[in-house]
Amino acid sequence: MSAFDTFKDIVLNRRTIKPGQMNGQIIPEQDIKDILELANWAPTHGRTEPWRFLVLSGENLHKFCDHHAQLYWANTPEDVRTETKANTLANMGKKASHLIITIMKRTPDTKIIVEEEYAAVAAATQTMLLAATAKGIASFWSTGGMTHHPAMKMYLELDEADLLMGLIYLGYSDEHRAGTRKSSSEDKTIWI
Ligand SMILES: Cc1cc2nc3c(=O)[nH]c(=O)nc-3n(C[C@H](O)[C@H](O)[C@H](O)COP(=O)(O)O)c2cc1C
Repeated sequence: MSAFDTFKDIVLNRRTIKPGQMNGQIIPEQDIKDILELANWAPTHGRTEPWRFLVLSGENLHKFCDHHAQLYWANTPEDVRTETKANTLANMGKKASHLIITIMKRTPDTKIIVEEEYAAVAAATQTMLLAATAKGIASFWSTGGMTHHPAMKMYLELDEADLLMGLIYLGYSDEHRAGTRKSSSEDKTIWI
């Protein structure tokens, strides 16, 4: 198989698999390290390498999920919040193996604009997802719940200029879903 075909397989096989569809099997720590090592090779304008990873598993993952649900409850208006949503957040770690919280660490005194640092961390995140797929690991890039809320930023002790990019849940799943796209790349491309 050519390198392109191998890569194509990985790209097309990556699917968003939510923690509820994971099976509770634990990922070996070395696999998590391998995934993060590849993420560290994302492109980076000005070599700021703005990606940071918080890796949670076991009891710490469960504590985070409980806290996430509590933050949601405390910071969502009474007429909007629901127990179903709070329970979903609290249970996110039940069948996932690891959670990797991806952070954009803003470089002080840099000429690189924030959008470019954000883009670099997004590239690192996609590399993570593809590396996980190549290892047969299911992933879910979530920005749900309190991900973008200042209360979460405070909880994680991020600096004002830093950004929480996503909650990446990893685990194994027995399910495989075919992907869909609304239109082809041709529909989104103009050749000049
Ligand atoms: C920045 C970003 C944030 C996302 N946040 C969520 C989310 O909070 N909840 C969710 O269900 N999916 C989320 N997703 C995953 C998308 O729903 C998913 O990529 C899309 O449905 C396409 O499915 P696929 O990833 O299997 O191709 C997010 C994706 C990206 C890129």
